[in-house]
Amino acid sequence: MKTYFQNKTVVITGGSSGIGKALVSELLTHGATIAVCGRKQNALDALQQEINNSSLFTFVADVSVEADCKAFIDATIAKFGKIDILINNAGISMRALFRDLDVSVLKSLMDINFWGTVYCTKFAYPSILANKGTIVGVSSIAGYRGLPARTGYSASKFAMQGFLEALRTENLHTGVNVMWVCPGFTASNIRNTALNPQGQAQSETPLDEGKLMSAEAVAAEIAKAIGKRKRTLVLTGQGKLTVLLSKLFPGFLDGMVYNHFKKEPGSPLQ
Ligand SMILES: NC(=O)c1ccc[n+]([C@@H]2O[C@H](COP(=O)([O-])OP(=O)(O)OC[C@H]3O[C@@H](n4cnc5c(N)ncnc54)[C@H](OP(=O)(O)O)[C@@H]3O)[C@@H](O)[C@H]2O)c1
Repeated sequence: MKTYFQNKTVVITGGSSGIGKALVSELLTHGATIAVCGRKQNALDALQQEINNSSLFTFVADVSVEADCKAFIDATIAKFGKIDILINNAGISMRALFRDLDVSVLKSLMDINFWGTVYCTKFAYPSILANKGTIVGVSSIAGYRGLPARTGYSASKFAMQGFLEALRTENLHTGVNVMWVCPGFTASNIRNTALNPQGQAQSETPLDEGKLMSAEAVAAEIAKAIGKRKRTLVLTGQGKLTVLLSKLFPGFLDGMVYNHFKKEPGSPLQ
C-alpha cells in the first residue's frame, strides 16, 4: 500500500471529522499528499495542528457551493500540480418523518451529499483522467435501502450511487476507476449534525457511538479498496446483510428496517 499511495495526491472532502479525518491520517502513513476541505476554518486549523505534516493542505469550501468546489480543486492543483484520487466524503444526515419536515431539509441533503459530489468530480475529473486515477463516493447502506426518517439522506445516497455507477461505466476503458463505499454505522459526529424537521442540527446521537465501527477501521478498509481499484465496498456484517436482503427479499426487509428504526431512542416512528 505504501507504494500505491506514494507520490499520489488525494483530495478528501469533509476531512475535519469522522471518516474523512481518519482517512487523512491513514493515507499520510501510506505516503500520499492530501488536500482537505470543510466549512469551518477553526476545524481545519485544528486538523493542521494535530497532523502537523507539510503533505497536508487544507482549504475552506462548502461542497454545496459550485464556486467553492472549483476554488478548492484549483487551489489543490496549484499546490500539488495534479489530482490522482478524489474521495467525495463530505456529508450530513437527517432524522425526521417526511410528513413533518420542511422540504428545505431534503434540498440541503441533496445539495451537500449529491451535488457536492457532482461538482468536485466535475472539476477534478480532467486531472484524474490524465493520471488514470480514482473517484470515490462515500455513500451509505442508505444508498441501497431507503431508511425511515431519512428520506433526504437515502435519496441523496441513491442519487450519488446512480451517478457514480453511470460514470464508472462511461470510464470502463479510460483507466479511471470509480468506486462507492457504503459504511455501516460508524462512530463519528454525523448523528449530532443530522438535521431535524426544521433543518437544524439535532445535536445528539441516539446510538452508543462507542459500540460502532471506528472511523479509523473504516478508513483502513477504504484505503485497501482504493489500492485494489475495487468497484464497491460495503462495511459491517449488518450492512452486508441489509444489502443482500434488499436484493433478495425487499418486502420482508421493509418490516425489519421499520422495527429496527422504531426501537431507536427518540425515534420519530414511535
Ligand atoms: N458515520 C456513519 O455512521 C456513516 C455511515 C454511512 C455513511 N457515512 C458517510 O460518511 C461520510 C462522512 O461522515 P462522518 O460520519 O465522518 O461524519 P462527520 O464526523 O460529521 O464528518 C463530516 C465531515 O464533512 C464535512 N462537511 C459537512 N458538510 C460539508 C459541506 N457542505 N462542505 C464541506 N464539508 C462538509 C464536515 O466538516 P464541516 O462541518 O466543518 O463542514 C466534516 O469534516 C458522509 O458522507 C456520511 O454520509 C457515515
